[in-house]
Amino acid sequence: MAKQPLQLFIKKQVQTDLYKKTGLEKTLTAFSLTTMGIGAIVGSGIFITPGLIAANYTGPSVMLSYVIAVVVCAMAALCYSEFSSTIPLAGSAYTYVYAVFGEFVAWILGWALISEYLFAVSSVAVSWSSYFQNLMGGFGIKLPAFLQAAAGTAGVKGGGIDIVALLITMLVAGLLSKGIRESARINNIMVIVKILVILLFIAIAIFYVKPSNYRPFLPFGTHGVFKGAAVAFYAYIGFDAVSTASEEVKNPKRNMPIGIISSLLVAAVLYISLSAVLVGVVHYTKLGVADPVAFALNLIHQDWAAGVISFGAIVGMTTVLIVMSYGGTRLLFAISRDGLLPASLKKLHPKTHVPVANTWIFGIVASIFAAFIPIDKIAELVNIGTLSAFAMVSLGIVFLRHDERFKDMDTSFKVPWYPVLPIASFLACVYLMTQLQPFTWEAFGIWVVIGLIVYVSYGYHHSRVRRETSAD
Ligand code: ALA
Repeated sequence: MAKQPLQLFIKKQVQTDLYKKTGLEKTLTAFSLTTMGIGAIVGSGIFITPGLIAANYTGPSVMLSYVIAVVVCAMAALCYSEFSSTIPLAGSAYTYVYAVFGEFVAWILGWALISEYLFAVSSVAVSWSSYFQNLMGGFGIKLPAFLQAAAGTAGVKGGGIDIVALLITMLVAGLLSKGIRESARINNIMVIVKILVILLFIAIAIFYVKPSNYRPFLPFGTHGVFKGAAVAFYAYIGFDAVSTASEEVKNPKRNMPIGIISSLLVAAVLYISLSAVLVGVVHYTKLGVADPVAFALNLIHQDWAAGVISFGAIVGMTTVLIVMSYGGTRLLFAISRDGLLPASLKKLHPKTHVPVANTWIFGIVASIFAAFIPIDKIAELVNIGTLSAFAMVSLGIVFLRHDERFKDMDTSFKVPWYPVLPIASFLACVYLMTQLQPFTWEAFGIWVVIGLIVYVSYGYHHSRVRRETSAD
């Protein structure tokens, strides 16, 4: 028998009818996509990081870091929007890259995205746990040190397991396994609470802003603002989760770009206004605390509002957990449907149309990371996986536009200033990746090697696209 040539770069044929009847229910509108995006984006990035960025990197100019980070994200978001309106299939960047660059690159990217979603859920679960434990502490309820946090967590002596982070991650998996419509409804309510709480902070604190707190404006120079932007990037992660829902959206060609871009804009307005007020109320040198927003309110003797904000932060981070877990499970679904991961991950419940086994597996793995790994180790891993995906998607637009197969497809959204914008977006993502620590690169390298082993030993041999192409 003749030996088959290696077909690493085989491409997905998206214009076929293969994926028309996916089994997933189409229930999401532009509004629910926008709330879903805000749900995924606004979490620990607003309730924890502005204070840390101001204290460590930028001083009062923290809002500039948020502006730079949103410019990078907005460029990537425009590229995501063009892809998601051209190829409205579950799987987000993974599916786009499969169609444009072929299977091997798609697998590496899908594997990087799995790390983004898993680590994002784990890191936010750990922040959720610390806010929750603080709030409970106010009522005199305290867990034994061993159950408070993972071993090695800064500031916690005798830590072992973050039991609260473990439980909340499992609870979210339980909620998602019930079905997307119910999850979207709960998400909408929580997003409204989150926005109201942020507006409440701004409305109260703005009257306590002291102009002297803004001087000197750039104590760490412009260099600090760019370093701060690499950290602020974490705060915007999540809008890409919207694109994993393509197959569950009514009229995705119109609603997808609206959902992605408007959720990013709303988040940017909230971040920039909140951080501008925060550094006006509290001198930046005092902001290196775990709960800067509540801290600022305590400082101006608005303790009742501090309690409300802590509650809102918990609600806010819950929506991040819901949407990022949702995105992760839909990504696993898409990869499994292509045969690159075992078929059990694409199995849908006959009534709820939810990939139940997949949802529980994702929840269990994320909860193990959350329970046992200290947060500072996980947070940067989220950024590297995401930035690599954004870089690929940005570059992918250039290839998409030159690809004959997509010439006649009805695309309702196109990236403006082509080809400058996608290329600038690619370069900006790569630049931010270079700002990450060596530890992050090493851990990411190990993750990619594990991914290669899975592909060589399983995915390559079970690829649906390759099987169908050979049959043709
Ligand atoms: N953007 C998400 C957050 O801030 C990860 O929580």
